[in-house]
Amino acid sequence: MSNPSILILPGDGIGPEVMAEVRKVIGWYGEKRDLQFDVSEDLVGGAAYDVHGKPLSDETMAKAQEVDAVLLGAVGGPKYDDLDFSVKPERGLLRLRKEMDLYSNLRPAQCFDALADFSSLKKDIVAGLDIMIVRELTSGVYFGEPRGIFKEGNERVGINTQRYTESEIERAARSAFELAMRRNKKLCSMEKANVMESGILWREVTTRVSADYPEVELSHMYADNGAMQLVRAPKQFDVILTDNLFGDILSDCAAMLTGSLGMLPSASLGAPMANGRPKALYEPVHGSAPDITGQGKANPIACILSFAMALRYSFDQGSEADRLEAAVEQVLADGHRTADLLGEEGVSPISTSEMGDVIVAALDASL
Ligand code: NAI
Ligand code: MG
Repeated sequence: MSNPSILILPGDGIGPEVMAEVRKVIGWYGEKRDLQFDVSEDLVGGAAYDVHGKPLSDETMAKAQEVDAVLLGAVGGPKYDDLDFSVKPERGLLRLRKEMDLYSNLRPAQCFDALADFSSLKKDIVAGLDIMIVRELTSGVYFGEPRGIFKEGNERVGINTQRYTESEIERAARSAFELAMRRNKKLCSMEKANVMESGILWREVTTRVSADYPEVELSHMYADNGAMQLVRAPKQFDVILTDNLFGDILSDCAAMLTGSLGMLPSASLGAPMANGRPKALYEPVHGSAPDITGQGKANPIACILSFAMALRYSFDQGSEADRLEAAVEQVLADGHRTADLLGEEGVSPISTSEMGDVIVAALDASL
C-alpha cells in the first residue's frame, strides 16, 4: 500500500516559516515512528499569484483534490492588498474550501495550563478547558441568495439570506455527532430557533440525526445564550455545533478564552473519499502576520497542532496526535515561549525554529 499523501501549501508571510517547523515534525514521525507520508509542496495565495497570475493554479487545485490531506500556512499580505478582488490571495483559500466542499470546520479551544494566565478570563474558569466548535462552512448567510445591494424606492437596501437545506444541516450535524462519539459524547447545538425559521429546521434535523447516535447527549441552546455561557462557564461544553455565521463569531470568542492566535489550529473536513478518509484541509487560524514576517518570531505551534489534527482526523493516528499535543504541552510547561507568549518576567523568547526543535526534542523524550 502506498503512503498517505500530504500536500503542503506554505503560502505567504510567516506561512513558510511555521511550515518549516511542521516539516521537522513530519520528518520525526517518518524516522522515529515509521509513519511515512508522501509529501509534496506547492504554491497558494500571493506566492502563487507571483508565479501564475492567480492565487491557486488549476494544477494545484487538482492535486489538492487527490491527496489525503492539505496543510496550509497562511495567505495574504500588504504587497497584494491592491490586487483585483478576483485574484486576491484569500481567493486561493476560498477556492480550495469551495471545490473540496469542506462543509465542516473544526475549531478546538484548548487551554494549556502553562498559558492559563494569558486568558482574558480568570484562571480557574479556563484551566483545563478543551472544547471543539464545529462550524458549518459552505452554506448559510454567507452564501444564500438573494444577496446584494439593491435600489428600493429612493434608498438602497443591503440583502443577505440565511438559507439551509435539510441535507446541508444533516451532514454538518453528522460530522459533529461523529466527533462527539470520539470525545465525551456530549453535543450542544446552537441556533436561534426562537426567531429564525432556518434555526427551527436546524433544531429539527439535528434532533432527527441524534437518533443514530443514542449514546450522545444532545442539547440545544440559543446562540446568544451560547455566547454568554462560553464566557461565563465554558467548561460546561464539549462539542458545539453551529451554523456558518454564529460559528464564525462563537469560534473566535472561544479562541480568545485560550490566549494567543499563534496557538490555534483548525481542520476543515468534507465528504469521505474512496479510501474512506474525509477531504481535508488543515491550517492555523492566524493569518500571514506581515508585521513579524522574516524575523523568526512566529509561533509555529498553531500550525504544528493543525498537523496533530491531521494525524487524528485524516490518518487515524489518535495516539500519535495525543503524543504531539503532549509534546507541545510539555515545552510550554518547561517555560519555552515564542515572543507572542511572553508576559512572565525574566523569560526571554525563543525563535520559530528553536520552538520547532524543542517540540521535536519533547517528541524524542516521549519514546
Ligand atoms: P494575522 O493573524 O496575520 O495577525 C494578527 C496579529 O497576530 C499580528 O500582530 C501577528 O503578528 C500576530 N500573529 C499571528 N499569527 C502569529 C503567530 N503564529 N505567531 C506570533 N504572532 C502571530 O491577521 P491580520 O494582521 O489581520 O492579517 C494579515 C494578513 O493575513 C492579511 O493579508 C490577511 O488577509 C491575511 N489573513 C489570512 C488568513 C489565512 O490565511 N487563513 C487568516 C487571517 C488573515
Ligand atoms: Mg472570523
